[in-house]
Amino acid sequence: MVANLANVFFKVTLKEQIHIDTLPEHIAIIMDGNGRWAKQKGMMRAFGHENGTKAVRDAVEAAAELGVKYLTLYAFSTENWNRPKLEVQTLMKLLVSSLKKEISTLQENNIRLSTIGNVDALPQKAKKELLEVINKTKDNDRMVLTLALSYGSREEMTYAIKEISLKVKNNIISPENIDESVIIKHLYTQNLPDVDLLVRTSGEQRISNFLLWQIAYAELYFTKVLWPDFTKNHLYEAILNYQQRERRFGKTSEQIK
Ligand code: IPE
Ligand code: IPE
Ligand code: MG
Repeated sequence: MVANLANVFFKVTLKEQIHIDTLPEHIAIIMDGNGRWAKQKGMMRAFGHENGTKAVRDAVEAAAELGVKYLTLYAFSTENWNRPKLEVQTLMKLLVSSLKKEISTLQENNIRLSTIGNVDALPQKAKKELLEVINKTKDNDRMVLTLALSYGSREEMTYAIKEISLKVKNNIISPENIDESVIIKHLYTQNLPDVDLLVRTSGEQRISNFLLWQIAYAELYFTKVLWPDFTKNHLYEAILNYQQRERRFGKTSEQIK
């Protein structure tokens, strides 16, 4: 109550209300609603995707400025390959142009780019641009920005099982030594911590094959805002909501306090 009054009188911004010591270490976002945003404006879906890139920049900047260590963005799913060919082409072109445009922002903000998903499935041009930016930003250490591209959690797990099976077959691992850490080491996300906060825009309340293993204990946050309308303040709201929750990881509330 006192805090609320203070907020009213001194106009404390959303950003200032965030507790830096309990920031989520890893935020993942399902950026959804570009198509509906465009449709509302009587425009083609591509227009929504183009306008979604501004929201990407805002979210990346906001997370880095706060001190979030890992931000993972769902940009293209394995299922998205089934969209009309023209839309897929538009998305791939947009990926290339955004990477070209944003490399300087990444460098200025000391952000390292990484990717999860089947990069080999991407068009040659997109893959080349992506690997180039990943290489150029590899020494940056303020935040890791991971783009999920041609990513599907089930494909990721299938791939991991294949890899582990091969190692068992070749006597590199014995089955009794397979534990969670072995599985984690074979996922695309081997270098990322578990997700703390998962945000999905556009009002849909589903996971759509995103990071199924890694969100086991993530806090889920759904907002009706369509992705192109998503601003820094929306991210702050999600983080503030996260900070009001009690993460128990199976324990009792008393054990946590
Ligand atoms: C998210 O917006 C972008 C991608 C999935 C690539 P959508 O394109 O899914 O937009 P809606 O859900 O149709 O509104
Ligand atoms: C999830 O959005 C994938 C991305 C945001 C990249 P979709 O729009 O593809 O998800 P569904 O099909 O509505 O569940
Ligand atoms: Mg969608």
